[in-house]
Amino acid sequence: MNKIIYLDAAASYQKCESVIQTEIDFLTRNYANAGRGICARAVAVDDMVQRCRAKVAGFMNARTDQIVFTAGTTDAMNMLANMIPMSARTKLLVADIDHHSARLPFDQKVRARAGVINVCPLDDKLNIDVDNVPYADVFVITAMSNVLGMPQKVADIIRAARQKNPNVVTVVDAAQYVVHEKIDVRAWNCDFVCWSGHKIGADTGVGVLYIKNPESYMPVKFGGGMVNKIVGDKITWNNPPDVFEAGTLPLTQIAGLAQAIDELNQNRPNMELIKYAFDELQKIQNVKILSERDACVLTFVVDAMHVLDFGALMGARDVCLRVGNMCASWVFARLNLDGAIRLSVGAYNTIDDIKYFVKSVKEIVK
Ligand SMILES: Cc1ncc(COP(=O)(O)O)c(C=O)c1O
Repeated sequence: MNKIIYLDAAASYQKCESVIQTEIDFLTRNYANAGRGICARAVAVDDMVQRCRAKVAGFMNARTDQIVFTAGTTDAMNMLANMIPMSARTKLLVADIDHHSARLPFDQKVRARAGVINVCPLDDKLNIDVDNVPYADVFVITAMSNVLGMPQKVADIIRAARQKNPNVVTVVDAAQYVVHEKIDVRAWNCDFVCWSGHKIGADTGVGVLYIKNPESYMPVKFGGGMVNKIVGDKITWNNPPDVFEAGTLPLTQIAGLAQAIDELNQNRPNMELIKYAFDELQKIQNVKILSERDACVLTFVVDAMHVLDFGALMGARDVCLRVGNMCASWVFARLNLDGAIRLSVGAYNTIDDIKYFVKSVKEIVK
């Protein structure tokens, strides 16, 4: 049997039986396109998509017209970098805990327009410094770093940014946050939130973009399903969210997403496992832990050992971890490191997985 100890949920979460079965049922018994047919089968697919949209809206405390299905966080961030007006006068604010996917789409756009990019101060634990948020026109906020795993005080950060500029456009990357903490877009008072289905146990290829004021933005993708009428040169778009969803949606993945949310609502990853691993690793000489004990991931380095060598040795023991810079170059520049080793857990992981991990680390560093 191909048994591995999978401790890499933060890269992508394993899928539970009910999510897989939901997708199989959809593909084998209920498949049709959405938004295009009037036969009972096609209408049932429309209903399935709307039910999932309503579930996502409830999950984030949003309205259904504010929920847009995307291909994932990266896709949504690239959409937003084209949707949010930015000029040479735009002051973009980012932070060094950002993932490449959140920061680069905006960074590249603002650079191309010769706008200003400022970096938000972090405190001594590399959390966003709520008391020192500078002025911004557009602010990309990472709700949880994929390297350090600490939930940021998103509502406070946005409140501080709005004190400097009431019109600041706030974009929240919740790719890591979503599986651990409840998202409440009203409490956050943010303009946009993005996350990926595969980080909560749904399939790859589906993600969610929340838009606070969908009527205020124009689509940046064009195609089928978003047009109400074209008469000569006059185009009338469909209402949100359809206007932002050009082309065929990832229907199978949307079916699985609704199921994954149900599973997550019942069973979130157990952070006691991270604390246990933290306490055990702290006893091992040569291991230097970078994350906090109450973080949602455990990130560390081993003295005099390259992280890729460590990852290969763990792999040889069937332990699957993330090693390297984790697409978060800026935080590693702050840490003065090229990369690290990260352990993360899903609801499917057990204490035995962590004990095996600890035993393997001890064997490798001894
Ligand atoms: C914090 C963060 N943001 C964005 C992303 C990008 O997500 P995706 O690759 O699903 O688009 C990731 C993925 O690891 C992430 O951890």
